[in-house]
Amino acid sequence: MAKKSVWSDNRFWQRSATWVTGFASILLIWLTFDTSAQIAMGNDQDLKDGVTKRVPGPTVINYKITYEMDAKRGHEVPVIGEKEKFFGRDDYSEEEAGALLHLGKLGSQAKNCMDCHTLLGNGAYYAPDLTKSWLDPAWGPDGAMQALTGKNTKEEAIAEFLQHPDQYPTHARMMPDLGITAEEAKGLVAFLKHMSSIDTNGFPRNFGRMQGAVNGK
Ligand code: HEC
Repeated sequence: MAKKSVWSDNRFWQRSATWVTGFASILLIWLTFDTSAQIAMGNDQDLKDGVTKRVPGPTVINYKITYEMDAKRGHEVPVIGEKEKFFGRDDYSEEEAGALLHLGKLGSQAKNCMDCHTLLGNGAYYAPDLTKSWLDPAWGPDGAMQALTGKNTKEEAIAEFLQHPDQYPTHARMMPDLGITAEEAKGLVAFLKHMSSIDTNGFPRNFGRMQGAVNGK
């Protein structure tokens, strides 16, 4: 009888397929649990205790968020600092902050921000990436966008812009007026602030070295 090569043996391929499928399934299950633990949202107590969570709890809006270079990881990471007023308050409860974020999230879906912008990797690149837009220096105390809106805080400046983007044109593309109300704008800004506090492994790349993501800077 002629010796059959292992490569043409059906059983060899069947067994390989079974092992590879089995191994891949176990790996995927393990990765799913590992990821779920990593992205589970923190809470107010974590923030009070200074426990770093990849996705901080909603009350992160009561704190100052900065973006600092982490030499070991080779990219910027959000750093949660001292208390900071957000629309005049720094004592939002977990429920209040959660309700604001919920309002913002619904608003972002209703007005389809992703049609033009990218949020956490999803969306379009017609307009600036919004993942870290809260940290865009253009909205800070010395930023061109804050000056343009005539407001004295970052949150008020962004909220004003969101309600009347066509009144603050830069030389870049213009954001259309989407009929966003003052209440919706407040929720959207809370949503943007919370999103900026999420540790996204440096995504989007090079944001920290940009000269203000918006062209008004
Ligand atoms: C039809 C496209 C479009 C839609 C939809 C849209 N935007 Fe914009 N947005 C733009 C453009 C274009 C700019 C840049 C404006 C400029 O540079 O003058 C912009 C700028 C911004 C900025 C400033 C970005 C930065 O990095 O400083 C924010 C914040 C923003 N948009 C939020 C939103 C939110 C929140 C929504 C959804 C509720 C939304 N946008 C929906 C087009 C859009």
